Order: sequence, then structure tokens, then C-alpha cells
Amino acid sequence: MYNASVEFTAYYYFTNLRVHCTGMDGESVKGIIEDARLEDLSHYESCVQRIYELGGSLPNDAQEFVRMSGCQFLQLPIPPTNMHEILRKCLAAEQGAIVNWNKMCNLTIGKDPATYDIAKDILKEEIEHEAWFLELIYNRPSGHMRRKYPGERPHTRKHSRALDIC
Ligand SMILES: [Fe+2]
Ligand SMILES: [Fe+2]
Repeated sequence: MYNASVEFTAYYYFTNLRVHCTGMDGESVKGIIEDARLEDLSHYESCVQRIYELGGSLPNDAQEFVRMSGCQFLQLPIPPTNMHEILRKCLAAEQGAIVNWNKMCNLTIGKDPATYDIAKDILKEEIEHEAWFLELIYNRPSGHMRRKYPGERPHTRKHSRALDIC
């Protein structure tokens, strides 16, 4: 549930961060943030079915759900179009997500194969997202190719079929 709230809230904040990618610098990273943003939505969707299968449920109060995530650190920097700060926030979000999903993998491996299958696929996408932002901030080679299209979600697509338009 906590991980679902982080993904949901990160999706919202990445939307706001992407909107503030302005000018020539912003234009060059907007597409990368968009790819990461749409995959966070996929990560949230990937959690929902499993939460209910395990007997859980989403909180009735959306504000409670968002607060649970602790993602307020993803609010806009000052000034809000500071590209370097936006990228640093994105990197921090990806690194936090890696910690969360790595924990979930360790908790479920050999015990709960259905949850593990989702957690390890989300973890793989988070590791890729981290590499994108490490490359942008530190010029660290990442070896990645752009997604073929926004929302491709190569590892979690099978868990978030609600997002398929056809
Ligand atoms: Fe995510
Ligand atoms: Fe991510």
C-alpha cells in the first residue's frame, strides 16, 4: 500500500515537474521525465489488483493516501523552472523507489511469487529511470535507448493492462 501511494503521488509531482521544464534545457529533458512519469502511473496500476487480491483496499481519503507517500520533497524547486533542481528531485525519487521495491523483492522472494513478479518488474524500470537521470546530471553513460513511445513500460506492461488503449 505504501509503495502504491508513492507511485501515485510521484506520478502527480512528475506531472508538475515536467510542466516546468521550459526553454531549450527543459525541452531536452521533458521527454525523459514524461517517460518516467507514465511508468510511475503503470507502477501504481500494477499495485492495485494485487492489493485487493491480498485482502487490502485503497484508503477512502485520497489526501491520506497522498500523505502516506512522504513525497512532498518532489514539490517544485525555487525558482520552479530550475532545471538542475528538477533533475535532482527526479533522481532522488527514482533512488527512493529503488529502495522501496528492492525491499519488497526481498520480502516476497520465495514466499509470494505473484507479488514478487510485480515488484521485480517495477524495480527494473526504476533502475532504468535512475540511469537516465544519472546520465543527465553527471554525464554518466547509461547505455539506454529512448523508449519507443511514451508509456511503453517494457517490464510492467503486463501488470497494468488497464492503461492499454486497444
Ligand atoms: Fe515508479
Ligand atoms: Fe521511476
